[in-house]
Amino acid sequence: MRWALAALVTLALAGCGEGAGGAPAARGRTVYFAQCTTCHATDPARSGPVGPPVKGAPRALLEARLLHAGYPPGYTPKRSSAVMPAMPQLAASIPDLAAYLAN
Ligand code: HEC
Repeated sequence: MRWALAALVTLALAGCGEGAGGAPAARGRTVYFAQCTTCHATDPARSGPVGPPVKGAPRALLEARLLHAGYPPGYTPKRSSAVMPAMPQLAASIPDLAAYLAN
């Protein structure tokens, strides 16, 4: 059984490594669940408690929302409200979020 435990620990450590440098979509998922699901649904395709569905949100839309709480030129927002704050501290995670939301 000891080998099984060692294998589990190895897998767990490998999992942590992935969080830091692994697939963009996996990193984006982590950021999404930590920063977005207070308002948006845990399933990005659905409406959340406060926010609209965000599945498929392209990078330009995420940049506009997170950096300026705005929208790309010509984009028709799903909601006319202005509840979501800018979250510029997440600028570096925008490609990861786009990769996660694209799936
Ligand atoms: C405080 C609640 C809140 C948080 C936190 C939040 N959002 Fe939002 N989001 C909203 C609301 C509400 C809207 C609708 C427009 C508005 O009122 O600002 C929105 C709109 C959006 C839109 C535009 C949808 C469209 O097509 O019109 C995107 C994309 C988006 N959010 C992504 C995110 C991401 C990614 C995160 C996490 C990094 C996040 N939001 C965090 C509340 C939130």
